[in-house]
Parts: sequence; C-alpha cells; structure tokens
Amino acid sequence: MSESAKPATPYRMWGGRFVAPPDPRATALLASLPVDRTLLRWDLLGSLAHITVLGEAGIVPAGAWADLSRGLVQMLKEADAGGLVPSDGYEDIHSFIEATLTSRLGQAAGWLHTGRSRNDQVVTAFRLALKDRIRRVVEKITDLQQTLLARARQVTDVALPGYTHLQRAQPVLLAHHWLAYFWMLHRDGARLRDAFRRVDVLPLGSGAIAGSGFPVDRRRQATLLGFGQISENSIDATGDRDFVFEVVSAIEGLLLHLSRWAEEMVLWSTREFGFISLPQTLMTGSSLMPQKQNPDLLELVRAQAGVGLGPLVTLAGVLKGLPAGYSRDLQEDKAAAATAFRAAEFAVDAMMLVTGGLIVHADRMAAALHGGFLTATEVADYLVRRGVPFREAHRLAGRVVLAAEEAGCELWELPLETYRKISAQFETDVLQAVTPQGAIAAKDVPGGTAPGRVAAALEAAATALIVQQAWLDQVTSDQAAAEARLLAAVPG
Ligand code: ARG
Repeated sequence: MSESAKPATPYRMWGGRFVAPPDPRATALLASLPVDRTLLRWDLLGSLAHITVLGEAGIVPAGAWADLSRGLVQMLKEADAGGLVPSDGYEDIHSFIEATLTSRLGQAAGWLHTGRSRNDQVVTAFRLALKDRIRRVVEKITDLQQTLLARARQVTDVALPGYTHLQRAQPVLLAHHWLAYFWMLHRDGARLRDAFRRVDVLPLGSGAIAGSGFPVDRRRQATLLGFGQISENSIDATGDRDFVFEVVSAIEGLLLHLSRWAEEMVLWSTREFGFISLPQTLMTGSSLMPQKQNPDLLELVRAQAGVGLGPLVTLAGVLKGLPAGYSRDLQEDKAAAATAFRAAEFAVDAMMLVTGGLIVHADRMAAALHGGFLTATEVADYLVRRGVPFREAHRLAGRVVLAAEEAGCELWELPLETYRKISAQFETDVLQAVTPQGAIAAKDVPGGTAPGRVAAALEAAATALIVQQAWLDQVTSDQAAAEARLLAAVPG
C-alpha cells in the first residue's frame, strides 16, 4: 500500500512545550524528506533492531514490542517491494515511519522512540545505507577492472609509445599501459574498502548526545544490524561525519583517475592520434556538422571529477568549525554523499561501456613507434653492458641519434659501420636491441613492460581481483546474515 496521502495536520515527533503552531514556511524549509527518503529501508531496520533490544530487555511492554515489530516488518516488506512511498509533508523519514506506525497501530507506536534520539537514529540509518552503497560501487569497479583485464589479455603483442610530458618516450606494451589504470582503480577500491571499516560502526544507543537513558544492549544491536563495531563515545557518535568525508574523498580519487583515463581516450580517438576508436553505438553526432562523431560519453566521465569535488568541498565546509555533538548542519551530509555516489556510478558505468567497446588500432600504435628515436636509451644501455659509464654512453647514444637523423632512418636501420665509427663496442646485436621489441624485452624487472613481466602482472591483477571479490562476498553475506538474525528475533 502507498502512504501517499498528505497528512492533514503535519505529524510531529515533538511539540508538547510549543504553544505557537509551526510556520508552514519554516516547516517546508526544515524538511529533509526529499533527501532522506532513500534511508527508508535502513531506518526501518534500525528501528526494528532498537525495538528488539528494548523488548528483549523488558524496557517496553511485550505487547507493544510484538505490535511494533510486526508493523515494522510489514513496512519493510512494502518498502522493499516499492509499495511504501513517503509523501511530502513529513519533517523527515523518521517522522514518516513513526506517523505510519501510529496510524496503523495506535498507542503502541509511541513506545518505539524510547531511549533513542533522531541524532543516533539518523546516523545509524545513514551508515547502513552507505555500507550498501559502497558495496555496490566496489562491485561496479570490480566489473570495470575485470573488463579491462580481459581486454588487456587480448593485446599482449600490441606495442605503442609510452608518453612522458605527452611526448613519445619509450615503447611499452598496450597491456602494460592498461594495467596502469587497473592498479589506479584497485587503489580506489581499496580506499573504499578501507573507509567501509570506519562506516561500519554502530552509533545507536548514543541518544541525543549523552547516551541512551535505558540499558540497551548495544552489541546486540550491532549484531542485529551487521555492524562490525560500536561507537566509543556518544558525543562523537552523534556529531561525527568524517566517515562521509572519507568515503566522498575516496570517490573523488576514483573520479580523478577516471577523468585522466577518459581524457587520454578522447585524445587517442582523435584523427591526430588514431590509436583507438569508439564504436558508433557509443558516439554522438553534431546537429550542424554532418561528418562529426563525438566522444561525449568520455567527456562526461571527465567532468564527473568536477561534480565529485562539489560534495567534498561541501562536507569540509559544513564540518568546519562545528562544535562537537549534533547540529542540524549535519543534515547536508546525505545530499552530498548522494551526489558523489551518482557521479561515481555514472563514470564507472560509462567507462565500462567504452572499455568493452573500444576498437584498438595496433597499426597506428606501431607507426607511432617510428621516427622519434624512442629506443635511444637502448643504445646507451647497450654500451653500459659493455663497460661504458652511463654518462659517456648517453653522449655516444646521442651521436648515434644524430647519425640516424642525418641518414633519415631508424636506429635499427643505421649501418653497423656507422655505429662502430662512434664506438668500437658496438656489435651486430645492437641492431636488434634498438628495435621497439628489443627495447620492450629489455625492461625485464618486476613492474616493467617486458612481455614475461606483463604476463605475470596480468596474473597478479587477477589475484588482486579475487581478494576484492572475496571482500564483496563477505560483506554481502554478513549483511544478509544480520538481517536474517534481526527477523528471527521478532517475537511471535
Ligand atoms: N533530518 C535530520 C538529519 O538528517 C535528522 C536528525 C534531526 N535531529 C534533530 N535533532 N533535529 O540530520
């Protein structure tokens, strides 16, 4: 059923000491329901755990405990089925839930708020919601990493210039280049998983600021809700939002990485580079220029780093100078987090499409390895292996580059006699060493671009994903187990 009817007189969780009715304009400005309606299921779970603990301790009458539990479970079912939609006109999601229970159960509903405050209630629901949202984003990141890894496995023989200062620097394997983004994404996932531990703390039982006035079993509440820990200090627990700042900051890190990658792909898909193209299905046209095909999706990914910066600055601004304990300023936390998560989900979804669909032009990448003497370092390294100090070898390699430039040829096309005029140390094998393949093979260190190292890196990446997937499975089953325990604790 839908609770969409607007309450005739607004339901208030307070008001006994007020003689003046609220100014409806103020009421409208104070309302947080448009944002915190997303907490519905989490606040129902929090309330159910709270009434369970009150009931088990005999703090509320058994009849009220049973009625409230049944009412909350019913609402949870309706919420999960999409049939319980809070209408406007309530101050917040907590008022909506209490009002709904009151209209359904009458007096019994009045027991629910025993020994708690909206200050510990809201942050309990918010932490539950964030845990779920973090899990879902890490899931998306994992899918993107998986796709990237699969693409990298298909191109282990493709080479292209690695760039420093956006100038052609040294040949690398495309798989090696893509793995760079894989590890950036992996740190983003790791940061989110780490932040999760600090979200995973139960504040319920902190009351408004001083702690609950009733002997609520906080560890039992944590178990029923799937929290790993309980908060240490009631003042801190109700006024703390740095866990939100931390999550939003981790998200911004992700968005920064994706913006760099997106920008690079925009560049690579230009006619000037021509290293990749996007399938037409992922491009947009111009309303004026008939020939145009534009990478708008990547541009929007690039922009999300700017979108994600907003909530980070908002939260820092809201928290700055705020005294310990709850202040209404903290209500801004949920909209900020929602913006950050929306940006993250958008960016990862879009990158997923692009990564899965992009077309690699290996010929253009190979062509870019010509003409720029990208293997000049190999000439120097060759001499070092024959006992020439690197600085001297660097100078002699410079002479070789000059000679090739004058001859208008590649380093591997320069006659051996020319090499030997510059240094008698050069033998015929130098001509293989200075090819792009020779240069790539020579970078045979862990983390280097030699084919064997890249093959090992692909394995290491797959193993890292197994660890992340295990975390996801654990978190998912922990939450399911907690919810099952909670429902099992309902009387009757
Ligand atoms: N909407 C509020 C929030 O998000 C709920 C807590 C209100 N608490 C209070 N003391 N007014 O922060």
